[in-house]
Amino acid sequence: MRILFVASECVPFAKAGGLGDVVGALPKALKLMGHDVRVLLPRYASIDASGFVRSPHPLGVPMGSGAAWCAVYEGQLPDSEVPIYLLEHDLAFGGGRIYGGEENTLWGGVKFGILSRGGFELARWLDWKPDVFHLHDWPSAWMAPMANEIEPEFADTATVFTIHNMAHQPKFPRETLAALGMSETYFRADGLEDFGMVNPFKGALYHSTMLTTVSPRYAHEIRTPAFGCGLDGVAEFRAADLVGVLNGIDDDVWDPEKDAFVPAHFNAEDLSGKAVCKAALEARFGLDPEPRSPLFGVVSRMTSQKGLDVIGDIVERLLATGSRFVILGSGDPAYEARFIGLSHVHRGRVGAHIGYDEGLAHLIEAGSDFFLMPSRFEPCGLNQFYSQRYGTLPIVHATGGLEDTVEHADPGKRTGTGYKMFALSSDALINTIRWAVDVYRHDPELHLAMQRQAMGKEMGWDIAARSYDAIYRWAVTKRRG
Ligand code: ADP
Ligand code: GLC
Repeated sequence: MRILFVASECVPFAKAGGLGDVVGALPKALKLMGHDVRVLLPRYASIDASGFVRSPHPLGVPMGSGAAWCAVYEGQLPDSEVPIYLLEHDLAFGGGRIYGGEENTLWGGVKFGILSRGGFELARWLDWKPDVFHLHDWPSAWMAPMANEIEPEFADTATVFTIHNMAHQPKFPRETLAALGMSETYFRADGLEDFGMVNPFKGALYHSTMLTTVSPRYAHEIRTPAFGCGLDGVAEFRAADLVGVLNGIDDDVWDPEKDAFVPAHFNAEDLSGKAVCKAALEARFGLDPEPRSPLFGVVSRMTSQKGLDVIGDIVERLLATGSRFVILGSGDPAYEARFIGLSHVHRGRVGAHIGYDEGLAHLIEAGSDFFLMPSRFEPCGLNQFYSQRYGTLPIVHATGGLEDTVEHADPGKRTGTGYKMFALSSDALINTIRWAVDVYRHDPELHLAMQRQAMGKEMGWDIAARSYDAIYRWAVTKRRG
């Protein structure tokens, strides 16, 4: 099948969160299955295009009564034969950041509208008609209603909309429709209209041929008011076309046996290299070297989604168990200041690094004993996968993908790959941490058995790719009647 991914992030070129990991890895697994899969990504100023070829033929993306003229760079996803096209438009994508300031502005809508409309235009430009447009969250969501209204040439191309996070739903002024060459036909409650504004996410929920979420549990959760972010009714309405497919991880990048970012390698049979990584992690954060004291790690965007306030509340009680704590992340300045403050007060036992650091993220996954992820909601989550792969037992709130991907410790059966708490509170978190520390200290055989079970899990993208293959087929059949 011919599949075009249209997205705002793609590892290793542009990443703000897990969406970029998914778009950088899933196409490779689909390619290995024999699909003709390609990716369209904006060319942000931060992307080094040296491995790309700039086409001499410009691409005019129809906008309102005129066109947005773009340049196209052609390249490949690393270690694959997946073609990737970068769409260059200085005004839209030439700034320093992927997102920021879009909300409520006409220009914010137009910016990723150019990417979306560009998806159709690229297909024409290549003379290559996809069977499926695979869309990811609001930036490419515009394509679903566009495919049904203004692009009749693509009546046979199905749209599959993957929901990575319902919480990100910027809305735009009504005039955005005209600016993108759309009519007011779908400016209605069962379309793109949302309290007088235009909501592309809502439009994609109504207009995509099929919908997916990044975990099965999240597919159910978004149909409830607690998780639906105002669109639970629409998700419920489309429930028959909504499927949850668990994300995978890129085994080439996240593998303790060959990870280029860590000082020693290890596997489920021989974990001795993990102690070397722990010592390196302690040194990196200036912690006192204490090989027998449990080390808790966090790598996270610093937003309320991730439950960092709850972690902040229990750090002192965590230290009282004789454990230490390190965190890497950036985002909300209030969280950043709080963790930096804790690292100053508890020097030698708490480490905090504010920023984005790929290598340090790998070292935290490899060198910690436990990984904390008490997310309020989590559509899938990738770090709990990475930590399991590195024998770092995750302690999670049982929600969304965390519920689906972590096996709760069962001391009776001597099984489990982590610890779950079933309510989110500081008491629940510290009690779960105390239990984990207790097993670590007094039942090291169980801890080791859990590490081995976690490290042995199948997490590659090939499993998800098989599900998407079935969904694409279903979507194409549905679209073509
Ligand atoms: P989300 O997409 O909601 O942020 P995920 O767990 O799906 O959550 O994905 C987050 C991804 O971003 C992971 O690959 C994680 O390692 C990475 N990440 C988050 N913050 C940082 C950071 N400060 N430095 C390096 N990597 C980070
Ligand atoms: C979103 C979600 C995260 C998910 C990622 C990739 O950023 O917050 O849970 O893992 O998308 O699908």
